Amino acid sequence: MSFVQPLFELRQVSQRFDRFSALHDVTLQIYEGERVALVGSSGAGKSTLIRLLNGTLRPTEGEVWALGRNLSGLSARQLRQVQRQIGTVYQQFHLVDNLAVIHNVNAGHLGRWPLFKALVSLVYPLEVKTAADALERVGIPEKLYARTDRLSGGQQQRVALARVLVQNPQAILADEPVASLDRELSREVMDLLCKLVEANKTLVVSLHSVELAQRYCDRIIGLRHGTVQFDVPSSNVSSALLEDLYRLR
Ligand SMILES: Nc1ncnc2c1ncn2[C@@H]1O[C@H](COP(=O)(O)OP(=O)(O)O)[C@@H](O)[C@H]1O
Ligand SMILES: [Mg+2]
Repeated sequence: MSFVQPLFELRQVSQRFDRFSALHDVTLQIYEGERVALVGSSGAGKSTLIRLLNGTLRPTEGEVWALGRNLSGLSARQLRQVQRQIGTVYQQFHLVDNLAVIHNVNAGHLGRWPLFKALVSLVYPLEVKTAADALERVGIPEKLYARTDRLSGGQQQRVALARVLVQNPQAILADEPVASLDRELSREVMDLLCKLVEANKTLVVSLHSVELAQRYCDRIIGLRHGTVQFDVPSSNVSSALLEDLYRLR
């Protein structure tokens, strides 16, 4: 019998902030190559789940495993090694506004570069070709030396994607990556994101739009008040499930 280990796994995970329970007793597995969407109302726990998966948050209870490691059992150094293999894209891009695009793209190397190299690169950009190639792939090759805050929202999200390309992780997490973009740009950025994920990389993306979730992902997890309400193949998402997920009470 062959046994495939999940790339990510939550085992009875609960997350509390003070007394407030943001996630409650969540157990799930995500396998290599899956494209998983997280949907649910604001406050349902989507961002919390993503932060648990990339180890920026430690669960109050239960275990989070990523790439075969229990994240709670790792030293800071070991955790960084795992995090190097997990790229995260955020709604607000998380770029340094007053730097040139190339520096933000090169931040994808930071998990691997020693500090002095990172510092030198701020003055004399290193690996210019890698950065230029990444920008080419996301469709804005001409912006290499532009100041990041002069770019439009859609272009800034492309820079964030180029940074993940340079990082070249095994899995990509995206927390509402298109929430600040209009409908058409949302599609373009999602097309691009899925292209970067390619055949065998894993994608976990939280989305406001169920339509986008169904279009781009093969599995949809519905979160409500910190619990998993459903976890089904995209084609099995029915309007009854959605009404229940988004009902007010
Ligand atoms: N650092 C925090 N401190 C206190 N409460 C938090 C914190 N992070 C999230 N929460 C709360 O946890 C719940 C889930 O939040 P979140 O995961 O951001 O939901 P979503 O991304 O689905 O909108 C919300 O009620 C939010 O206010
Ligand atoms: Mg959120």
